[in-house]
Amino acid sequence: MASFEHNKSTLLLPILFITVVLLIVSLSLSTATARDNITPTQPLADNETLVSAGGTFALGFFTPNNSSDRRRYIGIWYNNIPVQTIVWVANRANPVIGSTGQLSVTANGTVRITNRETSTLVWSVVNHFIFLTNPVVQLLGNGNFVMKEEGDNIENNYGWQSFDYPTDTLLPGMKLGVNRMTGLNRNLTAWKSEVDPSPGEYCAAMVIGDSPEIYLFNRSSKLWRSGPWDGRQLGTLRSWNSNGRAFTYTFVNNYNEVSFSIQVSYQTILRVGQSGVLQIRAWVPEAEGWLLLWQIPANLCDNIGQCGSNSICDITQSPICRCLHGFTPKNPANWEGGDYNDGCVRRVAFDCRSEGADTFLSLNGVKLPESSMIYLDSFSLDACRSECLKNCSCAAYAISVGGGGCVIWVTDLLDVVQLSYAGLDLYMRNGLTDAASHSQPQKANWRIVVVIVSLLSGALLLSCFIFFLWRRKKRRRVILGRTILFSHKLDEDDRRKDLDLPLFTFGTIAAATESFSAENKLGQDGFGHVYKGTLGRDKEIAVKRLAKSSQQGAEEFKNEVMLIAKLQNRNLVRLLGCCIHGEERMLVYEYMPNKSLDAFLFEKEKAALLEWRTRYQIIVGITRGLLYLHHDSRYRIIHRDLKASNILLDKEMNPKISDFGMARLFGGDETDYNTRKVVGTYGYMSPEYAMEGIFSVKSDVYSFGVLLLEIISGKKNRGLYAFSPHLNLVAHAWSLWNENESLELVDEAMSNDFPSNDVLKCIKIGLLCVQDHPEDRPLMSSVIEMLGADITSLRQPKQPGFLVKMGPELDHISNNKDPHMSNELTVTLDGR
Ligand SMILES: *[C@@H]1O[C@H](CO)[C@@H](O)[C@H](O)[C@H]1NC(C)=O
Ligand SMILES: *[C@@H]1O[C@H](CO)[C@@H](O)[C@H](O)[C@H]1NC(C)=O
Ligand SMILES: *[C@@H]1O[C@H](CO)[C@@H](O)[C@H](O)[C@H]1NC(C)=O
Ligand SMILES: *[C@@H]1O[C@H](CO)[C@@H](O)[C@H](O)[C@H]1NC(C)=O
Ligand SMILES: *[C@@H]1O[C@H](CO)[C@@H](O)[C@H](O)[C@H]1NC(C)=O
Ligand SMILES: *[C@@H]1O[C@H](CO)[C@@H](O)[C@H](O)[C@H]1NC(C)=O
Ligand SMILES: *[C@@H]1O[C@H](CO)[C@@H](O)[C@H](O)[C@H]1NC(C)=O
Repeated sequence: MASFEHNKSTLLLPILFITVVLLIVSLSLSTATARDNITPTQPLADNETLVSAGGTFALGFFTPNNSSDRRRYIGIWYNNIPVQTIVWVANRANPVIGSTGQLSVTANGTVRITNRETSTLVWSVVNHFIFLTNPVVQLLGNGNFVMKEEGDNIENNYGWQSFDYPTDTLLPGMKLGVNRMTGLNRNLTAWKSEVDPSPGEYCAAMVIGDSPEIYLFNRSSKLWRSGPWDGRQLGTLRSWNSNGRAFTYTFVNNYNEVSFSIQVSYQTILRVGQSGVLQIRAWVPEAEGWLLLWQIPANLCDNIGQCGSNSICDITQSPICRCLHGFTPKNPANWEGGDYNDGCVRRVAFDCRSEGADTFLSLNGVKLPESSMIYLDSFSLDACRSECLKNCSCAAYAISVGGGGCVIWVTDLLDVVQLSYAGLDLYMRNGLTDAASHSQPQKANWRIVVVIVSLLSGALLLSCFIFFLWRRKKRRRVILGRTILFSHKLDEDDRRKDLDLPLFTFGTIAAATESFSAENKLGQDGFGHVYKGTLGRDKEIAVKRLAKSSQQGAEEFKNEVMLIAKLQNRNLVRLLGCCIHGEERMLVYEYMPNKSLDAFLFEKEKAALLEWRTRYQIIVGITRGLLYLHHDSRYRIIHRDLKASNILLDKEMNPKISDFGMARLFGGDETDYNTRKVVGTYGYMSPEYAMEGIFSVKSDVYSFGVLLLEIISGKKNRGLYAFSPHLNLVAHAWSLWNENESLELVDEAMSNDFPSNDVLKCIKIGLLCVQDHPEDRPLMSSVIEMLGADITSLRQPKQPGFLVKMGPELDHISNNKDPHMSNELTVTLDGR
């Protein structure tokens, strides 16, 4: 026993020793790390910073844009992010001039910024809520700067907190909205400029009412509204959650508060930019940049009242504005000219005499109209309908998910937007002649007029038709299969042109492709399967059997096909005809014996066949084809899915662009959340298109740039670079360019016998085309000129827009190192 006691005490000694050593080490460590608070006896000088526990955030004096300016502000930024990212500013409008500022807290809990040299008070806040004997102001791990009693760790027991006074940035944990108890209104106001944090013009705020919504303001004018809570999301604001990357938000609307807050799985901020945009960005360490995940306004329909009153904005249609059912343009001339400001007016009055005679038409999945609605508490939809019928000015009703009742509109309907995801249903009241079941005798006269008019116009149409048939007879030319006449709106030009477009029967196509046999299958893509076929003895064709996701009716489809068939250029694949059979839609093209460019480019052996001359010929051909689509054809077509597999090669290796106009054929579906993957391919998508589906000719130019770099390098933009320091081919090309090593990009499969100046010029053009800002990218007409010009006459390319893979919905986001994220997207939407 005794010896055991002895052993125990000898064991204790070293343990004690180690403990003491550890204690000393940890003490010295803690004095080495920066403190996270200030007390009345320990103010913060200009040359010091506080660092939050965990090291995520830092607080101290800073100069905007990290310049050598003398204006000093107290701010909070990310401590571990090398790009200056200020998320909060205390003295936004009152800088300390020079480095003599001091942040302190008084014994009664007033936080002050003073200029020690001039003894002036620059900024202060007072303790509103709690009694403090030993006040301490601490930077918490979530970036909240709070005033509290020393040693008191009760959450939210603060005398003041920075989270209640956001500047332009919403951090996770912050709330945007109104505290109904205290009246505190927490909104985000942009910086005035990159170098001036004082409150600027743009502000994102929660506007409370019966259906609270987030609005983006330009001073007092409204730029954008989210739309009301629909039970799952706040209007058009989407959450996402995939592969451990998440952006979700919480919307609270109760007796105490209306608030919006974000939850994220990585460093993410929501910010109002100085250019009037609301952005969500995430820090991606691999890219050393704040990647733009989402931005508002993203397209024209995001602008409040884009289409004027009583109209609906649908970004997938062209034109995007359309009068609501029962309305007609107030000023038809302007409306036709694309000026929608005047909006629409009611075409027919409601039948208010006999209650219940009016019917309703539902508009599904829309952003509900803005203008003053009347909220009916705990009314069911049916009750709402009857209520609407009672008031002759009531034009529509809808469920109010946020409020638990319904809403009716007795005014003009403003800012109705068609959404391809989420949204609510709006029930529009039908006017007199729109209602199906009307049989009042007073209307008999009307009916006669209608009958006569329709008879007359029928006769007129018939004679036009006959005349037209007669004209056609003389110039009919059967190209292939059966030719039929379309009932298409014809303008003079169309009349003069040949309108033949063969409509093949299903039987013909099935026979040509041996019933779509597997041996005849050439490939498939997002739009459907492609088969090789033989018509008659030896006419080879390629048949694209479209996936069923096209929602277009037969007539609409035919019109679109006809339009596309009119695009003829030696660098476009020729559309020979189409086939419509029940739900089936097929396109018949000329057959290209050398298949597609990707089959050559990305296969080592075949790539060797592509000498520089051939590659250059392909580049020029694609440029011509795209130029034709963008500018030369009568219809402005944006391809939207330009990539190596869409470039087909004929016998002489001449490139022909295929799949143009597919976005049109897929009609209203094109920006749909689910089928959006169909249009566009990751790796080729421009940042602005990938983000929110903003497309323009400049998004095609971006894809063209990627294609150009691929043709030169023989490498795919994505895939090969997963384990290299570069994100993708574009990033790789950019870094080689900056190191003056661009020729390293050239495909090894190519012999060394090439004019390096021409290759360098093409690389430069490629880089000009993939620049981050769409407005920096050249038009195809300039690209043609550049190909013929001297390399020294070309501008220097700016940083490209990179695309990083981050999960299904975020497969494509851009990188921007701009510290204040003033990255502006001014893309004009161009439907045709
Ligand atoms: C900050 O500057 C003061 C003089 O203005 C100096 O006494 C102090 O040591 C400096 N502190 C640090 C951490 O550099
Ligand atoms: C901000 O800093 C960057 C680089 O330091 C500079 O290029 C830019 O012009 C500055 N912005 C302003 C508005 O001064
Ligand atoms: C500002 O620039 C200096 C070097 O000029 C650098 O050490 C510092 O980290 C930068 N600050 C921020 C917040 O980016
Ligand atoms: C706190 O003390 C400061 C001076 O130290 C004084 O100006 C201020 O009025 C006091 N505030 C309150 C709420 O007592
Ligand atoms: C934003 O908040 C400030 C301070 O609460 C308030 O004065 C301002 O009116 C708010 N702006 C909007 C647009 O709600
Ligand atoms: C904001 O309003 C000003 C005029 O008050 C205007 O010049 C500016 O273009 C507007 N900004 C946006 C983004 O609409
Ligand atoms: C319809 O509702 C509006 C708004 O509440 C009201 O001003 C108007 O008097 C109502 N009209 C009828 C006929 O009830």
